[in-house]
Amino acid sequence: MKRKRLGLLISGRGSNMAAILAAAAPDYPAEPVLVLSNRADAAGLEVAKARGVPTAVVESRAFKGDRAGFEAAMEAVLGQHGVEIIALAGFMRVLTADFVRRWEGRLINIHPSLLPAFPGLDTHARALAAGVRLHGCTVHLVTAGVDEGPIIAQAAVPVLPDDTEASLAARVLAAEHRLYPAALSWLAAGQVRLAAGRAVITGVDSAVDSLLNPLPRAALLSTQCSKV
Ligand code: GRF
Repeated sequence: MKRKRLGLLISGRGSNMAAILAAAAPDYPAEPVLVLSNRADAAGLEVAKARGVPTAVVESRAFKGDRAGFEAAMEAVLGQHGVEIIALAGFMRVLTADFVRRWEGRLINIHPSLLPAFPGLDTHARALAAGVRLHGCTVHLVTAGVDEGPIIAQAAVPVLPDDTEASLAARVLAAEHRLYPAALSWLAAGQVRLAAGRAVITGVDSAVDSLLNPLPRAALLSTQCSKV
């Protein structure tokens, strides 16, 4: 298997990035070759360096509203490292439609809600305010509309009566750390295809926890059998 050269884009703490780096053993279908931040003070940069992954910074502040210029500078660095697929991991800049088009099908993101509920910011506070009983996270292909691309996988967590924003965020984050490496591996291995604007996943047969979707093939089969 030829591993896909993976670039991770971060802006901050980088815990999802760390989960992907930890998952990226030699048999993982994506090889992290670059962690790129738009902020020099992103804590995740130190985590990446400690794991021996090359890092780079393209300061978005330096481009003051020149999004195309900022992205051209990022693409130069991505090109130097031969990046083939990009995972956004807490990257807090909205990408232009041009950038997204150039990376179509090779650019994914994790969002801390069960999309299409709660796109945008402050998802945990909004979930609590809405009184939902299930919350979670979504890995999706990136399209020009923010938090709108085809869904690859989701993980749900319960919302408990005494949850605070912090306790709910922590529960979702733990789910993110399991979901993102799995969903990214399916994309890198060519198991994600688009049909009528939706992502279809094939060949997933590893054990995936029951609150993650896609379900393992065995679980799908037993669901079908129980209907007969
Ligand atoms: C995560 O909640 C992710 O879903 C969202 O930004 C946060 C990044 O956290 N896109 P980290 O930097 O990965 O720790």
